[in-house]
Amino acid sequence: MGMSKFGPVVVWLACATSAYAEAPLKGKVQDREVWITIGTDALAPVRTALSGQGLRLAAPTFEKGGVAVLRVSESQVEKLSGAMHQGLNRCAGFIAHDSQAEAVAAAEAAHQPQTLGMALAASYTLNNAASVNALLADIQEINIRNTINSLSTNWTNRYYNVQNGADASTWLKNQWTTLANGRSDIKVEFFTHSWKQSSVIATIQGSTHPNEVVVLGGHLDSINQSNPSTGVAPGADDDASGIASVTEIFRVAVAKGYKPARTVKFMAYAGEEVGLYGSKAIANSFKSAGTNVVGVLQLDMTNYKGSSYDFAMVTDNTNAQLNAFTTSLISKYQPGLSYTNITCGYGCSDHASWTAAGYPASMPFEATMSTDNKSIHTPNDTLSVTAGNANNSVKFAKLGASFLAELAKGATTGNTPPPVDSGGGGTLPTASYDSTYKAPRCASAGIGCDSGTLLNGRGTMSPSEANAPNTIAAAACADSSKGTYRTDESNERIRVSTPDGTTLAAGKTVTVEATVYAYSTTADKLDLYYSASATSPSWKLIGTYSPSSTGLTTLSASYTLPTGGVQVVRARFRYNGSASSCTAGDYIDHDDLVFAVQ
Ligand code: BES
Ligand code: ZN
Repeated sequence: MGMSKFGPVVVWLACATSAYAEAPLKGKVQDREVWITIGTDALAPVRTALSGQGLRLAAPTFEKGGVAVLRVSESQVEKLSGAMHQGLNRCAGFIAHDSQAEAVAAAEAAHQPQTLGMALAASYTLNNAASVNALLADIQEINIRNTINSLSTNWTNRYYNVQNGADASTWLKNQWTTLANGRSDIKVEFFTHSWKQSSVIATIQGSTHPNEVVVLGGHLDSINQSNPSTGVAPGADDDASGIASVTEIFRVAVAKGYKPARTVKFMAYAGEEVGLYGSKAIANSFKSAGTNVVGVLQLDMTNYKGSSYDFAMVTDNTNAQLNAFTTSLISKYQPGLSYTNITCGYGCSDHASWTAAGYPASMPFEATMSTDNKSIHTPNDTLSVTAGNANNSVKFAKLGASFLAELAKGATTGNTPPPVDSGGGGTLPTASYDSTYKAPRCASAGIGCDSGTLLNGRGTMSPSEANAPNTIAAAACADSSKGTYRTDESNERIRVSTPDGTTLAAGKTVTVEATVYAYSTTADKLDLYYSASATSPSWKLIGTYSPSSTGLTTLSASYTLPTGGVQVVRARFRYNGSASSCTAGDYIDHDDLVFAVQ
């Protein structure tokens, strides 16, 4: 969400129940509209709470997997925050977006089918035990306790847009710089934002796979829900405990001479409590740069043991395969410990920003939803709630350290690094719309190219396909606009990749995946074509495929890349008819993906 479009006021009232009893919304003509994603479970109670104030909540325009997309006015967002708090005893619990397309994309990503299956499974291996165990042996509770103590007693208001919040970033950056101990392969930097507080990022350059990135993070900011700017917000659990866990992982990595094969980034996000601002800015900038993030671990609240389970895996807005990998780490490296699954019902922490940007993320949490720490967002979120110790966070620091050494591979001093699977974890460079080619394009040759959400929709069916029909200028081909989105046919996404994670080059066999929304398994057909040139295309049929299920489903095929610097793949998803690279007709969607080849 761009801070510029609608100011921070939107979410800083997240839990401020005092601020919403004011003039009704009708007649506020200058009110800007925003789009929100919200858990469907929250709709009824929020609607009831709002109607108590004479306000009506619009019907969702899109719903999927427990997440709804709604249009609201900017001023209504404030009332919605209050209503969430009143109706659900939950803070905010929705994410505001600039556009409907962005909101729908976020809802989609929250429950995306796992189309990255094979590549991910191949690279999530457990074969680095010697290095993991060297790291785990050195994790110390006292260090975690000291960091929580410093943050929660010296920086008792880490709100994202006040000077204290900014100063807390500087303090942490200095801490991490000291821990880096002058190593030339490590740098510690600010990621600055349009508000006062900066995010902090410590990077250990990967020795052999520097372009593949592993992220471990937590949020640096805190909030006093009834007085955000000046109230006392120690945030010992939420989230000094996560920052302290990440800090201890970073410390042991350096202390044990750990040299990761993949690049590792330790992150302390600014502005999580006001709407995941910092992580969203970072994840989106990585996406724009085409950075290949193979896995993200979010540690938000680690020191309070709410239930008998040691870990609760958040299963919404996270990646199922990365979650499976994370629980396999628990079973292998902390075998006495237990875990369960929970859902937040909305993007409750920074993992959701990474998921929305198309990256695999996991968030192991300290409690179940009914047993969560009730002191958060108040002056009472102090270390005394957890008896003055950081025992519970040790488990999370160990989990994070095992995540680090098994995902980034490489080795600690004296240990032999295991082989690193290629394939980059399944995340591919993301295309962006190219107004010259008139289709999504990856301008430089990488391990593949992913249209991401750019091809969602068909023609002007609401919500419409952005830049429809997304077919190359040299072979434009219209879409039908007939029917209803996500009931009738649409091609939603195209990915092209090398199965071995090497760069796209002439002569290599590549996998093409098309994610379609199918109406029928018998009448619907996918025609896939390729052309060596995107400027003077000559289409070759890869094949015609039938969806094996209705709804969202991914079909894949392979072909050998010809010679040509700028190539293109076309997906034509049709209802009845026969194979053709371009024949318009009812319910037919044509989409192209342009990509560079070496
Ligand atoms: N750490 C919390 C999220 C949380 C709280 C998860 C309790 C599970 C149980 C986080 O810092 C937070 O408060 N998030 C906001 C998100 C919103 C601003 C988008 C929330 O949940 O209201
Ligand atoms: Zn938090």
